Amino acid sequence: MSRFGHLFLGLILLSIGVAGVILYYSYCDACPFPGGRMGMGGGMRGMGGMMHGMRGEMRRNMDEIERKTEFSSPGEKIFYRGIGSRGEFISNSHGMQGVGCAMCHGADAHGMRMMMMDVPALTWKYLTNPEGHIHPGGRRHPPFTEESLKSSILAGIDPAGNPLNTMMPRWQMSAEDLDSLIEYLKTK
Ligand code: HEC
Repeated sequence: MSRFGHLFLGLILLSIGVAGVILYYSYCDACPFPGGRMGMGGGMRGMGGMMHGMRGEMRRNMDEIERKTEFSSPGEKIFYRGIGSRGEFISNSHGMQGVGCAMCHGADAHGMRMMMMDVPALTWKYLTNPEGHIHPGGRRHPPFTEESLKSSILAGIDPAGNPLNTMMPRWQMSAEDLDSLIEYLKTK
């Protein structure tokens, strides 16, 4: 084969590889790299027909998150985008960038089912329900206070001292950002 033949073949193989990755991201609802998928969202739009596989609850939720572009408080931006008041990605134990609470807990904060796991609601009424919570896996705890909510977000510890599943990221954010996030959750 001529040198150009090899180049041509190489390019074809490369495009097949790239198309494969794109297909994987667009069809995989339980994709382990949500940050990547969010980042590709805009570009994926143009790919029309390929979008058919992304119709689940998670896809709808991602669409709702992407549609939201104006934020009325730093807390709201953290909730939707995981971006802090200084414009930085908020660090978390999953290493996700640009992903906030809404991706797993739902843009409406009503909770979701994700990767075989129930992600609880984050509405203030639910969090502070005087009865406390009994979760499907048997984890139970009294209602959240602002302090215990902070421990869950930062350290993954619920009000009864139970560790949360590691699917819930542990977040590192400034005290101001955390307060702002909690003020926002009070409106949900
Ligand atoms: C990658 C998915 C994911 C993201 C992103 C996420 N969470 Fe969670 N979160 C979970 C899961 C899953 C649980 C349930 C853990 C368990 O039951 O052990 C959970 C549990 C919680 C709980 C405990 C609720 C309860 O009733 O026990 C709180 C509070 C919470 N998350 C707040 C947040 C906040 C605030 C953010 C954003 C800063 C956030 N989460 C982002 C997945 C996520």
